[in-house]
Amino acid sequence: MKVGVVGLGYVGLPLALAFAEEGHEVVGVEADPRKVAAIARGESYIEDVPSGRLAAVSERLSAATSYEELVACEAVLIAVPTPLTRNREPDLGPLVSSGTALAGVLREGQLVVLESTTYPGTTRERLAPLLEDSGLATGRDFNLAYSPERVDPGRTDFTLRTTPKIVGAMTPACLDRAMAVYGRVCDEIVPVSGPEPAELAKLLENVFRSVNIALVNELAMLCDRMGIDVWEVVEAASSKPYGFMRFDPGPGMGGHCLPVDPFYLSWKAREYGQPTEFVELAGEVNQRMPEFCAERVARALNDLSKPVRGSRVLVLGVAYKPGVGDLRESPAIKIMGLLAKSGADLSFHDDHVPELPEFGLHSEPLDVALGSADVAVIVTAHSGLDVEAVVRSAPLVVDFRGVTRGIEAPNLVRL
Ligand SMILES: NC(=O)c1ccc[n+]([C@@H]2O[C@H](COP(=O)([O-])OP(=O)(O)OC[C@H]3O[C@@H](n4cnc5c(N)ncnc54)[C@H](O)[C@@H]3O)[C@@H](O)[C@H]2O)c1
Repeated sequence: MKVGVVGLGYVGLPLALAFAEEGHEVVGVEADPRKVAAIARGESYIEDVPSGRLAAVSERLSAATSYEELVACEAVLIAVPTPLTRNREPDLGPLVSSGTALAGVLREGQLVVLESTTYPGTTRERLAPLLEDSGLATGRDFNLAYSPERVDPGRTDFTLRTTPKIVGAMTPACLDRAMAVYGRVCDEIVPVSGPEPAELAKLLENVFRSVNIALVNELAMLCDRMGIDVWEVVEAASSKPYGFMRFDPGPGMGGHCLPVDPFYLSWKAREYGQPTEFVELAGEVNQRMPEFCAERVARALNDLSKPVRGSRVLVLGVAYKPGVGDLRESPAIKIMGLLAKSGADLSFHDDHVPELPEFGLHSEPLDVALGSADVAVIVTAHSGLDVEAVVRSAPLVVDFRGVTRGIEAPNLVRL
């Protein structure tokens, strides 16, 4: 089979690789020529995709900026970004431009599947009409389906193959076709009755996480006031064998999905006059966390008679989560921005992020950075961070991830 993947980012590149590793010929269409060139050199730019795996399938995996390459594909899978506009509304720009370009080369008999996260109705109301500008009809001349990506960057216990894949399609024949294609790379397919339930299921998954993280973050702010250890509370509640699912508090949500996707749902809900208060409240609480964290650092310094202004604040971990170098919507950046505004002298250490140009900073070696810091703030704890050494070496440690649990020290403050 020849498969096309449009958009070779965090989602598209692993997807392309999965098909190539199963022996299929894969052509990727990517708007960024630097990524196309990197793939031609067999070099990966996504942490979850080792270059060795790319190089091993270089005979079968190619990339280009031109949609012409898709003409000979049986299936075309679209994984372009679905960001927000400045006004926090869905920005379907990349999706519309990829749909328009694809319509220019679409041919009879092809299957098109949208993988990008989006509001219910996008496949039917937005993508299908764009593709039909080709003169071909959905369901009759070409097949169209929606299948949300569930990749979790940095995760190794579940892969594309072992994570059930939801598929919803425009017609029963479209569904059969999409299930057959995904059956080559996924062990379990979960068919639903159309694109809309599949689109909404993905949003439910992300809203579920956002709401639960907000709940436990709100509890963390209350625990701070009440002098109760929120980690002990979460740990104790997690002993319930049913009816409870553990979520940990933290400095706020980051990444491309959780801070963005709920807005796709609340925007669409407005069309139906139905408020989505849970969704919006969760977003508000989570967005408040970086401010709370910056204020907590200031309070910890104040307790040592130090002002934020002029204090050397070392941030440990600036990526939005452990194990990756992704800075998108990272709470660390927001916390650093707030502390910088208050006059803090910032530095950072992150094994996955070499530099932060917006702050004019490079990641410093941990021992050097600890030696000169007034406070070390653990915002993202990558595995391998020697937490005990941090607590031993820094005059003050503020831990927003709970990784110092079990350590008792007078210079240690935990969320
Ligand atoms: N990153 C995740 O963990 C994750 C998980 C599940 C779902 N998703 C969803 O998958 C989609 C893609 O996310 P991502 O993280 O891979 O984004 P990304 O930015 O890493 O990758 C998207 C790629 O598409 C390219 N692109 C943009 N417009 C294009 C066009 N018109 N033609 C061809 N290429 C184009 C970009 O250059 C980029 O390389 C989004 O809808 C996202 O919400 C992401």
